[in-house]
Amino acid sequence: MDIKEAINQRHSVRQFQDKPLEPEAVNRLNELIENCNTESGLHFQLVLNEPDAFNTFMAHYGKFTNAVNYIALVGKKDLPDLDEKCGYFGERIVLEAQMIGLNTCWVAGTYGKKKCRAVIGKDEKLVCVIATGYGENQGKMHKSKPLEKLCGEKPEDCPDWFREGVDAAVKAPTAINQQKFYISLEGDEAKIVSKGGPMSKIDLGIIKYNFEAASGHKVK
Ligand SMILES: Cc1cc2nc3c(=O)[nH]c(=O)nc-3n(C[C@H](O)[C@H](O)[C@H](O)COP(=O)(O)O)c2cc1C
Repeated sequence: MDIKEAINQRHSVRQFQDKPLEPEAVNRLNELIENCNTESGLHFQLVLNEPDAFNTFMAHYGKFTNAVNYIALVGKKDLPDLDEKCGYFGERIVLEAQMIGLNTCWVAGTYGKKKCRAVIGKDEKLVCVIATGYGENQGKMHKSKPLEKLCGEKPEDCPDWFREGVDAAVKAPTAINQQKFYISLEGDEAKIVSKGGPMSKIDLGIIKYNFEAASGHKVK
């Protein structure tokens, strides 16, 4: 599976099989996390076989089952653009996880933040988590806003790489599926801005990663 297939096939999955992660999957996730942390200065951590964070009223209300593995997205409070960086590097892990047969769900609200077993220093913040495991299902494609609300350009006026980037951005996960972003083409560069909303900085990082991964072009 290549990155574009991973983008197409990834949907949030909240029900997982009662099955531990294969050792190869654990190794791959740890390797990815280490690479992301080295590159970004973040402190992502893989937490395995931990039933408490998703054993809360909100998690049950959110219909999570067997969510016992998660990646805690932690970073220094004073790291510039902390939330956006968590979105960007977290999405890199989400898409790689999809490629090795895992399913995922970004979770900022419906879990027990205080029960999360990650190591969080006094100068650090737990931004959100990504639940992972072998899904009971593959999830389903989210509804999207009309394209003209998300992108200012006419598709026929744009280069192929830009169209592919927009397509991947529209398929990206956003908090409460809010899709509060706007993409434009400035010269030969893509620009993506956030239109605000809860957790929209995390969303922005996720969308930028999807765009870059599919288009092969850096976003401004
Ligand atoms: C930053 C962020 C936070 C999220 N928080 C939650 C959450 O607390 N609970 C939940 O069930 N889903 C959460 N989601 C998943 C979104 O609801 C989901 O990504 C969105 O509805 C789009 O669906 P899709 O991921 O299947 O494409 C979150 C997604 C993002 C990007």
